[in-house]
Amino acid sequence: MSEQRGNWSSSVGFILAATGSAIGLGNLWKFPFITWENNGGAFVLVYLVCIAAVGLPIMMAEILIGRSTQKSVVGALKEAVGPAWGVVGMWGVLCGFILLSYYTVIAGWSLYYFSRTAQWMLGGFPAGTQTGAIFDAQVANPGLQLGLSLAFSVGTVAVVYFGVQKGIERIARLFLPILFGILVLMLVSALGMSGSGEALGFIFRPDFGRLEAGGVLEALGHSFFTLSLGMGAMVTYGSYMERNQSIVKASAVIVLLDTLIALVATIIMFSVIFSVAGMAEQVSGSTVGMLFISLPELFFTEVPFGNLLGPLFYVLVALAALTSTMSLLEVVASYVIDEHRIDRHKATLLCGGAVFVFTILAALSFSPVPLLSTMELFEGKPGWFSTADHFVSNWMLPTGGLAITIAAGWAMSRSVTEGELADGTEPGWFSYGAWRFFIRFVSPLAVAAIIIAVLLGQDFS
Ligand code: TRP
Repeated sequence: MSEQRGNWSSSVGFILAATGSAIGLGNLWKFPFITWENNGGAFVLVYLVCIAAVGLPIMMAEILIGRSTQKSVVGALKEAVGPAWGVVGMWGVLCGFILLSYYTVIAGWSLYYFSRTAQWMLGGFPAGTQTGAIFDAQVANPGLQLGLSLAFSVGTVAVVYFGVQKGIERIARLFLPILFGILVLMLVSALGMSGSGEALGFIFRPDFGRLEAGGVLEALGHSFFTLSLGMGAMVTYGSYMERNQSIVKASAVIVLLDTLIALVATIIMFSVIFSVAGMAEQVSGSTVGMLFISLPELFFTEVPFGNLLGPLFYVLVALAALTSTMSLLEVVASYVIDEHRIDRHKATLLCGGAVFVFTILAALSFSPVPLLSTMELFEGKPGWFSTADHFVSNWMLPTGGLAITIAAGWAMSRSVTEGELADGTEPGWFSYGAWRFFIRFVSPLAVAAIIIAVLLGQDFS
């Protein structure tokens, strides 16, 4: 069967695809607002420590499980650890399924904002425009929400349909350079604004007096989300990797790029916000809306060349989201392909269609649809959309991540993991012993801390 499976055309192909999976709405939307809520500096430092101490070792663990077995997440865990571990794999597939169903809805918003900002670019920004009201109206418009998320789902299915090399890798190779290019343009523009100094200080000058315990756990929780860990996405992508490539080097590059992009996005947004009098107070009212409420207006009123950068920025958000949604669908589809022996085309359409049924529920969660907008399984998380997000971020990713650390650190033999990581391709700075210590002790304890915090009522969604 392995000869029918796809593979990346080169090591760069794998790195770009995996980096594309990691860079997404987590970097552009979530990281800036949690950094804002947690007062910057110290939070950012703690986040960097979590990425290095927990994220990087687990990234290596997921990729090595995939590459050593050449199977998607369910088959990989069964083979690497034992038949009972198929359950953990299924947990990952289910997590990918749910995450994809609502992630697509936010991704759809980027299409709406692209068209809005493009209209403003051409026709001028109407004075007195209330971007908050525009946001509320678009999320509460059921037809619009369904159309946007359908368009995005079709895009995702279309990529995965063409397979690992001709679909996923090709899109990643095309989109990631564009994404980096747009970000550099925006960074240059943002650094020229008067608020950039204050923004850099806010982000990089740690003040531990302003960090609460909950913030530490939030940083840890986000490091899973942003690196696409805890549900087998990296296991799946790793399963298409060749043996002559270094897992350690690839992981380091993916983690570095993801972190860099999150920081750059945050510098851009905060430079804009700090440049406008009164904006900091306004943003504090709706940090979640930073990307879709504050920014659209600021592009047209404050940012140099903003009428051009505005639409370009929402293209960037859409590209970043697509390289993530395609990896989520790949987790689900590759499970069906590998374990149920259904061919890729059928499997992709089947899985894409099934996920879309749940996307409909998420898309209608902001409209006055009785149960969908009002159900409250988790306190303070009304509606299906928030319920799903809460369940994935707080329960599924951390428990899946914990299982991966146990699989790679305790259940798999040392000779297998050492053979994958220290196979002669690893860089000089890498120490297998250090990795093993982190994956056996540091990472699981840190993840267990998240889970205990969730049990005690902390919220990461
Ligand atoms: N990393 C993605 C982001 O930052 C979101 C994400 C989490 C994800 N888990 C994933 C994407 C698994 C693909 C696969 O937006």
